[in-house]
Amino acid sequence: MTRLFSAAFALLLAVSVLGMDSTATAQDAATEGAIKYRKSVMKTVGGNMGAIVGIIKGSGDKADLTLHTGQMAKTSMIVGKLFPEGSDFGETTALPVIWEKPDDFAKAVKMMQDAAAGINTAAASGDMAVIGPALGKLGESCKNCHENFREKKERKK
Ligand code: HEC
Repeated sequence: MTRLFSAAFALLLAVSVLGMDSTATAQDAATEGAIKYRKSVMKTVGGNMGAIVGIIKGSGDKADLTLHTGQMAKTSMIVGKLFPEGSDFGETTALPVIWEKPDDFAKAVKMMQDAAAGINTAAASGDMAVIGPALGKLGESCKNCHENFREKKERKK
């Protein structure tokens, strides 16, 4: 019974992964995967942001600030790749303007990369007088992209 069930489950999984059923095409599955991946990566960005703010406000261990800023800087380097052509349909709040104005979008990505590199350098100095403004710049870069390239009404926070 269990074996039969797991065989059926494996088949179901294969069908859904390969997009072989009548409703989902392989293309749909690829798009869905790209969107899920993008949201997961964005969640880690959000997580690191929360951790950075937490440490700056006095929680956690100051010595770990560069861990989070380092992750932020590294992750910012793949943000541009999270938006493959065609991933604007489905469970996403990414706006079509991302693909309509790729140069503008690239600038928003670059702004985040520069700000993330900036706070990573600032964090290494340990000097709060430079870390504070660097955090401000990083926050601006999130806001800039979300305001211009992300649907507002479905924003979770
Ligand atoms: C270049 C554009 C861009 C930048 C820069 C950017 N984001 Fe995003 N972010 C997006 C888009 C677009 C979405 C919506 C993704 C979707 O729904 O497919 C998103 C979604 C999110 C989400 C929600 C993920 C989910 O669960 O759906 C979080 C959290 C987030 N971003 C945090 C941040 C933080 C924090 C920063 C700055 C450190 C940042 N983002 C910088 C474009 C950006």
